[in-house]
Amino acid sequence: MVVIDAGTTGVRSRVIGADGTGGVAAYREFTQHYPQPGWVEHDVDEIWEAVVATLTDVAGEVGERPIAAIGITNQRETAVAWSRSSGAPHGTAIVWQDRRTAERCDELEAAGHLSLVRERTGLVLDPYFTGTKYEWLLRERNVEIDDDLALGTIDSWLIWKLTGGRADVGAIHATDVTNASRTMLLDIRTRQWDADLCELLGVPIGALPEVRPSSGRFGTTDGVDGFPDDIPISGVAGDQQAALFGQACVEPGMAKNTYGTGSFVLLNVGAECPPPTKGMLTTIAWTLSDGTTVYALEGAIFITGAAIQWLRDGLQIIDDAAETGPLAESIDDTGGVYVVPAFTGLGSPWWDPYARGTIVGITRGTGRAEMARATVESMVYQTRDVVDAMVEASGTAITDLRVDGGASVMDLLCQLQADQLGVTVKRPVDNETTSLGAGFLAGLAEGVWSSTAEVGATWSLQAEFSPAADRTLADAAHAQWLRALDRSRAWARP
Ligand SMILES: Nc1ncnc2c1ncn2[C@@H]1O[C@H](COP(=O)(O)OP(=O)(O)OP(=O)(O)O)[C@@H](O)[C@H]1O
Ligand SMILES: [Mg+2]
Repeated sequence: MVVIDAGTTGVRSRVIGADGTGGVAAYREFTQHYPQPGWVEHDVDEIWEAVVATLTDVAGEVGERPIAAIGITNQRETAVAWSRSSGAPHGTAIVWQDRRTAERCDELEAAGHLSLVRERTGLVLDPYFTGTKYEWLLRERNVEIDDDLALGTIDSWLIWKLTGGRADVGAIHATDVTNASRTMLLDIRTRQWDADLCELLGVPIGALPEVRPSSGRFGTTDGVDGFPDDIPISGVAGDQQAALFGQACVEPGMAKNTYGTGSFVLLNVGAECPPPTKGMLTTIAWTLSDGTTVYALEGAIFITGAAIQWLRDGLQIIDDAAETGPLAESIDDTGGVYVVPAFTGLGSPWWDPYARGTIVGITRGTGRAEMARATVESMVYQTRDVVDAMVEASGTAITDLRVDGGASVMDLLCQLQADQLGVTVKRPVDNETTSLGAGFLAGLAEGVWSSTAEVGATWSLQAEFSPAADRTLADAAHAQWLRALDRSRAWARP
């Protein structure tokens, strides 16, 4: 299988073998656009170029060996609009982190629409989700609503481009249930677009992609430069659901956290869709080709690894993300410094689009190491806040946490996380679980594996971190974090 992982900051394509191990990979970063404070946009033609470039690299390495299928996993919630006849986008994509529709969400809540959103979609009313982004895009860019219009998330954009890119050559307009469940337009119980929500936001249902299971054939490649034709696209899932699958959290009660740009804790809650729970999102974990659907509770933290990128690019106190761990470990504590990286507001469990980044407790002794350590700690505290809320909401304790993502390579992060949660943290050998998950979904559809249990058996432990016996220190530090967090709240309120 070849998996395309179209993330928020870059695209990685890689080969996943029939034994569940990763092979050759290629990566391209793409440009982040910040036209105004709180706004984040991507050029989707540039994303497509990055996909083509990485596919070309991977295909070159694979040579004559057959490719059974393509899997796609992607940054979720990001809104794209394009023309079916020309394949040209209607401007940039509005990225999941973008806060421009915060006031619109307030308005919808004031008008009493929150319970509709909670009940049908399992989400909360926050600019994070795609629905209000589509509405903004159609209205502010004067996009004509007609048969030529296509709306979709990044998965749909890539399926469209991979299958020909234009209506006249039969390009496919589809999405999978996991991506659809993040739009604020899907009824997660019926797994169909919700006519009431679409009407509320002025989104034409006819422009939306067809909703399909995460595992199963979506279409075949057609005319992609440097890549063979007729390869089936057989697995599609949003990056966090793919990571849950890639971590083999296939049984109810299993949970993972991915430390990437942001962090997303997902807990498998089984085949029954639970009622909305306070501060948490209910989402579709996957639907397999036989129709089996699994639901997850999710805590979404917008900024974790991105705060390390900010240490590098914004503050320039490190040259490389990999310096963070050693620098943070060079001291025993931050001397009371707390970094709250609420750069794009706060997600779970606070849901405050007006929060902004805050640093408190700085003294004359504060230096680079304290800033680095406080940033690592902020990832840990934010995760604890989410897990605490999840445990409270679901009434079941988690027994351990599987971790992955670029920043999970830091042992300090994993150890502090175990200490803060009081549970064992487990890191797998392959921490690119996002692409693994999409590879598994594609492989299941093509008969490479026959069951989720078989897929689960490929998971293997690289390291585990046991919590400190005494939680007094951890709890005291966390209590102080909550005070710091409070100071970041409601800062940018209009
Ligand atoms: N050696 C390292 N030590 C600490 N942090 C790291 C290290 N390598 C990467 N990171 C952090 O991990 C993040 C990237 O991880 P990953 O590639 O999993 O992110 P992602 O969220 O999947 O990216 P994307 O948003 O493009 O999908 C970056 O934000 C970076 O700061
Ligand atoms: Mg990613």
